[in-house]
Amino acid sequence: MSIRIAKPEDLLAIQAANLQNLPENYSMKFWIYHAMTWPQISFVAEDHKGRIVGYVLAKIEEREDSEENEKSKAGNEKLQPIHGHVNSISVLRSYRRLGLAKKLMLLSHAMATIYKAHYVSLHVRKSNKAAIALYQDALGFEVAKVEAKYCASAAPAPALVTVFAPAL
Ligand code: ACO
Repeated sequence: MSIRIAKPEDLLAIQAANLQNLPENYSMKFWIYHAMTWPQISFVAEDHKGRIVGYVLAKIEEREDSEENEKSKAGNEKLQPIHGHVNSISVLRSYRRLGLAKKLMLLSHAMATIYKAHYVSLHVRKSNKAAIALYQDALGFEVAKVEAKYCASAAPAPALVTVFAPAL
């Protein structure tokens, strides 16, 4: 098993893994945009035959374009610093509990050195105990807020937790 930076030719396999593992799915345009815009912070895990068995896809929220800052500007509040956001991470079922997701997440923290990100955020369903354990117990993330309702493109979920790692 090895982990390396995601390349454009991995995108179909990444999308397939995403479809298999999560109800939040994205168009190929979305995957390409992220891989092209922030190529150093998305990673894949591959088996000995080069098959993609896990991925993490991350992006950078610039000061000007982040959702929070649109709200902050309207309310004259302090702008959020540049930060990273993990859009999606998953590992194929038969490759879980091998430490792959933890390694993928830690590698994506390169956003701190490359893009000077101050912290990393992500959204996770409240019901997703495995992912929450990964973020909180294994990686030291903290819960920032819990949203009562969340409408993802594919499936509406009752509750969503936003977690963040404050010190990258
Ligand atoms: N139950 C409890 N704790 C868990 C679990 C679990 N099922 N899975 C991981 N953890 C915690 C443990 O502390 C574990 O350490 P340990 O094995 O020494 O006890 C630690 O996280 C590291 O686990 P990894 O082996 O690195 O995690 P894995 O490679 O199995 O992947 C993941 C975890 C990504 C959540 C996987 O279960 C998965 O793909 N799930 C479906 C997709 C998903 O839910 N993705 C996250 C959605 S949120 C988002 O994408 C932003």
